[in-house]
Amino acid sequence: MMLKIYPPSEYPVMKSLVSWLLVTLCILAKHALGNSNPILPGWNPDPTILRVDDDYFISTSTFEYFPGHPIYHSKNLVDWTLVGHALNRPSQLPLYGTPSDAGALLNLLRPDLGCIQSNWKNYYIAEDMSIVLWPCYADVLQAELRLFPRSFYVTTRDIFSNNWSDPVYFDALGYDADLFWDVNGDVYNTWSGINNAVDKIYGIWQNKIDLSTGNSLTEAKLIFNGTLPNDSAARPEGPHIYHINGTYYLLIAEGGTDVHHRATIQRGPSPSGPWENNPDNPILFNGADLNNSVQNTGHADIVKGADGRWWGVSLGVRPQNGNMSHIQLGRETFLFPVTWENGWPVFNNGKPITEELDVHRAPQTDCSKASFVRPFTSTHSLDPTFYFLRTPYKPFYSLSARPGFLRLFANSYAPGDRDSPAMILRKQSSYSERFEVQMDFTPGTALNEAGVTVFYGDLLHSEMGVMGDGGATSAGRRIIVRTAVQAEQVGPWALTTTNATIITTEYFPLQTKGVSIKLKVLTSPTSYIFGYSESNNSSSNFSFIKKIDASTLSLPTAGGFFFKGTSLGIYNTGNGKPSLAPADFSYWHQTPSVT
Ligand SMILES: *[C@@H]1O[C@H](CO)[C@@H](O)[C@H](O)[C@H]1NC(C)=O
Ligand SMILES: *[C@@H]1O[C@H](CO)[C@@H](O)[C@H](O)[C@H]1NC(C)=O
Ligand SMILES: *[C@@H]1O[C@H](CO)[C@@H](O)[C@H](O)[C@H]1NC(C)=O
Ligand SMILES: *[C@@H]1O[C@H](CO)[C@@H](O)[C@H](O)[C@H]1NC(C)=O
Ligand SMILES: *[C@@H]1O[C@H](CO)[C@@H](O)[C@H](O)[C@H]1NC(C)=O
Ligand SMILES: *[C@@H]1O[C@H](CO)[C@@H](O)[C@H](O)[C@H]1NC(C)=O
Ligand SMILES: *[C@@H]1O[C@H](CO)[C@@H](O)[C@H](O)[C@H]1NC(C)=O
Ligand SMILES: *[C@@H]1O[C@H](CO)[C@@H](O)[C@H](O)[C@H]1NC(C)=O
Ligand SMILES: *[C@@H]1O[C@H](CO)[C@@H](O)[C@H](O)[C@H]1NC(C)=O
Ligand SMILES: *[C@@H]1O[C@H](CO)[C@@H](O)[C@H](O)[C@H]1NC(C)=O
Repeated sequence: MMLKIYPPSEYPVMKSLVSWLLVTLCILAKHALGNSNPILPGWNPDPTILRVDDDYFISTSTFEYFPGHPIYHSKNLVDWTLVGHALNRPSQLPLYGTPSDAGALLNLLRPDLGCIQSNWKNYYIAEDMSIVLWPCYADVLQAELRLFPRSFYVTTRDIFSNNWSDPVYFDALGYDADLFWDVNGDVYNTWSGINNAVDKIYGIWQNKIDLSTGNSLTEAKLIFNGTLPNDSAARPEGPHIYHINGTYYLLIAEGGTDVHHRATIQRGPSPSGPWENNPDNPILFNGADLNNSVQNTGHADIVKGADGRWWGVSLGVRPQNGNMSHIQLGRETFLFPVTWENGWPVFNNGKPITEELDVHRAPQTDCSKASFVRPFTSTHSLDPTFYFLRTPYKPFYSLSARPGFLRLFANSYAPGDRDSPAMILRKQSSYSERFEVQMDFTPGTALNEAGVTVFYGDLLHSEMGVMGDGGATSAGRRIIVRTAVQAEQVGPWALTTTNATIITTEYFPLQTKGVSIKLKVLTSPTSYIFGYSESNNSSSNFSFIKKIDASTLSLPTAGGFFFKGTSLGIYNTGNGKPSLAPADFSYWHQTPSVT
């Protein structure tokens, strides 16, 4: 196919054709992508939802990614736009050496309603952050530091400002902190805590706090043990307290993060109970039938819409091959209607959550949700959908060093190192996707390497890069494909840091020295296919050299904590040594495909 640049006078005709095409493609893509759920495709776990007038906001967990806690905005509950991040300064999110799947866990996004009368709003986000180095523990109590991070909240007066306060820390030891403002002005912190690190009996704990300091005002009290048998798998967590029609409700998640994950609700006369169990619990539990196409549902939050109707959000996964071995997109955010019967909420009319969602809304004409096709022509800032791994110690990219390119400066760290490698990630947001970049890279030494990555976490990732060959060929460089999969687990909850991955590498010769390399990843429900082309021409001849089973980028059967999902990314590394070779990327194309 030929491309032609048209002068402005001829442009309008083209433009209308192009926009018609775009709209058509969007509707097709949307349809093919499975209706409206998940409303936040790609890993977006632990959703919390908020409405102010007719604006809705959702935030989700980001673990060891920086910046932390995306703020998504919507007017219709189905189409969401990323408007910023609550934690975007290192002082708010010092993730240095944080292990995979620790980091920023989110539980709450709320306005302080008491403040609206005085004509301004404060929005609060309550969350937990683990910055402990791990595993560096000697006894069992410390072993739980990874699960028991320090909780805090941040606040802003303008949720669109992308400017939130520094953290105000609580005293509690636990996770999934929830703030509740009672009608009399008391503020409660409610969280998931544990009895000890051996039995691991979780419970919902609570105390009153001084909001301005985060300091405790009352002793911590165990307010609920959950509805499941008393063992370490019960895992009551993700508490939310609501005051609705004069009754207090406690909504929690239970059963752990796998197919047993569910939502249950109880009600009582105070924010601390005592609780009356809903006879219809669990009110959300897709795992009751493992044939359901959406699984692991739970960690829900509810909101009353501007029209008086209620809605809920929860996390869920979409297993791709009939069992749980291919869920590489991880835990996504789903929406469902909430109705009330006898003073109890009913989720999704009592039915399992599916990808279908029957909502009235304007047809979607904005392709940005589905496709991301960008040249790096802006010299201002990266798109907010890009992430770093952990908090960068210093800037490692530039949009102005070579105009028209995103330049990545290498550091010594590589994907898989528990540091902040020179790597930029973007969530994979559909199971079938095409990812392509064009890169200029001339390695200086045999250790210099830059390319693309399919990245789940330190223990699960695969790269295709250009690497120096030490002068073995006239090109001075070659293609490397590296896959890292999790090695043996030692202990039920341990993720080893030494010999933690089994790494395989393959090399392919390159013919050229200075020519751009195009790198492409084709994703499917069960695989990732890597290809490259030695050309900066618009027509490209790709060689597809490697197919990876997507189960190697999914929850491993060996167990452990795997709370995120796969991202696609670019990186530049000196493989243990500093590197002077920059990697220049001219575009990033990430588009859903129907294959
Ligand atoms: C962010 O907010 C703080 C105070 O709330 C203010 O001092 C600061 O100037 C703001 N920063 C930006 C970039 O707007
Ligand atoms: C929770 O269980 C503990 C024993 O493990 C019991 O002492 C306590 O009373 C229970 N608390 C509630 C609120 O049910
Ligand atoms: C729950 O189990 C723990 C540990 O086995 C035990 O100490 C506790 O008494 C049990 N609580 C109840 C209510 O059975
Ligand atoms: C609150 O109470 C009113 C009046 O009894 C009732 O119509 C409404 O459905 C209740 N709302 C909820 C959420 O229970
Ligand atoms: C799940 O699907 C299998 C195979 O289609 C079927 O045999 C089984 O009865 C189904 N289970 C339920 C609970 O519907
Ligand atoms: C899942 O299904 C695939 C394909 O049928 C199979 O190869 C794999 O072993 C299954 N995995 C599990 C954990 O059952
Ligand atoms: C590392 O793991 C591999 C695969 O499990 C094993 O063969 C090898 O012996 C291990 N090496 C060390 C030093 O433990
Ligand atoms: C294309 O490749 C040539 C070398 O063959 C190089 O000089 C030029 O800068 C490249 N253009 C781009 C946009 O990368
Ligand atoms: C680009 O295409 C032209 C014409 O098709 C060809 O002559 C040239 O060698 C190509 N350059 C590269 C770097 O592939
Ligand atoms: C495409 O690339 C392959 C190997 O990289 C090469 O053998 C083939 O000649 C190329 N085809 C064209 C049309 O350039």
